[in-house]
Amino acid sequence: MKKNILITGGAGFIGSHVVRLFINKYPNYNIYNLDKLTYAGNLENIRDIENSSNYNFIKGDITDSKFINELFNKIDFDGVIHLAAESHVDRSIENPDEFINTNILGTLNLLNAAKNTWKEKEDKLFYHISTDEVYGSLGEKGLFTEETSYDPRSPYSASKASSDHLVRAYMHTYGLNTVISNCSNNYGANQFPEKLIPLVINNIKKNKAIPVYGKGENVRDWLFVKDHATAIDTVFHKGKAGETYNIGGNNEWQNIDLIKKICEISDSRLNRKKGESEKLITFVKDRAGHDLRYAIDSSKIATELNWKPSLTFEEGIEITISWYLENQAWLDNVLSGEYENYYKQQYSERENK
Ligand code: NAD
Ligand code: DAU
Repeated sequence: MKKNILITGGAGFIGSHVVRLFINKYPNYNIYNLDKLTYAGNLENIRDIENSSNYNFIKGDITDSKFINELFNKIDFDGVIHLAAESHVDRSIENPDEFINTNILGTLNLLNAAKNTWKEKEDKLFYHISTDEVYGSLGEKGLFTEETSYDPRSPYSASKASSDHLVRAYMHTYGLNTVISNCSNNYGANQFPEKLIPLVINNIKKNKAIPVYGKGENVRDWLFVKDHATAIDTVFHKGKAGETYNIGGNNEWQNIDLIKKICEISDSRLNRKKGESEKLITFVKDRAGHDLRYAIDSSKIATELNWKPSLTFEEGIEITISWYLENQAWLDNVLSGEYENYYKQQYSERENK
């Protein structure tokens, strides 16, 4: 069946993988990629599919309610997959306002437009992409389930928690069909190199210090981005309206161990002496309010929707390291502009801890 699907944030890291998957897998869908192209959005991420007949790019800002209302009046969307957001925790600590505007008010604008224009609401779906950070921080044991109480602890996670609550409220109050998924840390190609994994690879390439926050003891549960994209496809097509699905890779790493693993693989790829890249590790001032551990119980999506990751972490990290080593032009492109100044300021402050 012909469908109009709006994907927000499709020029970003995860969104670009979702757009590509939908364009290739569903030629009968018209995909509308709405993106503001902030520092994190880059049309290079989706260059390979931009001429597809079922692809449309719309440059626009979800915080602009007039623009969003006009868009929903013009195009009869059958579904929304909402990824557009400010996504970096450190930036939310520096400048929370942008996170409140984009992540909360931007989501509100999309919900209002869907509520006001969708006549046959039961045939439509508003799918909100969220994060495991809404559940707060775990101790050494335990996993986040869909029943874990919300306990966001950074401006980023508070803004995502708030948008999750709004999405559920619009289902209960206005009868909008909604579904939410909360995913753990993603890694893979096209991630802006301010996030841990691409930052480490990029710094190794350039022989620059690898900044490890605190003692490097914090734990994250890593999922290959293409597996997140297949999970999103699964939830969009098979998920039950009103439900929440946790998505994770069952793949916990302490930061310091993960960084050493990346150093080891990079040494062999770059023909460096064993242990060479590890010398770049530099312990710096910790992130304020740094959550200790995230880990996801993804048994609900596995048993109810039959989804599981396709790659082991060993396979995924090899692919990822190769991609950043081979795509210098992409790195140069995204790192030009305002980011260089931001990075210099951030890290000179951290190194002078
Ligand atoms: P990203 O920062 O790489 O991309 C965000 C995209 O949104 C960019 O293309 C940007 O231009 C666009 N955008 C930002 N503000 C906008 C606005 N006002 N209007 C329109 N577009 C705007 O983020 P990501 O890592 O791909 O994350 C995508 C979504 O997935 C986010 O909602 C994030 O909270 C969620 N998420 C991310 C992870 C992760 O590990 N990266 C894990 C779980 C959930
Ligand atoms: O859990 C899902 C979340 O994962 C997503 O919702 C966020 O959008 C995404 O950015 C990510 O958040 P994190 O804060 O976990 O990711 P980040 O890559 O910034 O950091 C990963 C860990 O590495 C974290 O414990 C902080 C640490 N770190 C990070 C950077 C950038 C360092 O030690 N040094 C660094 O330079």
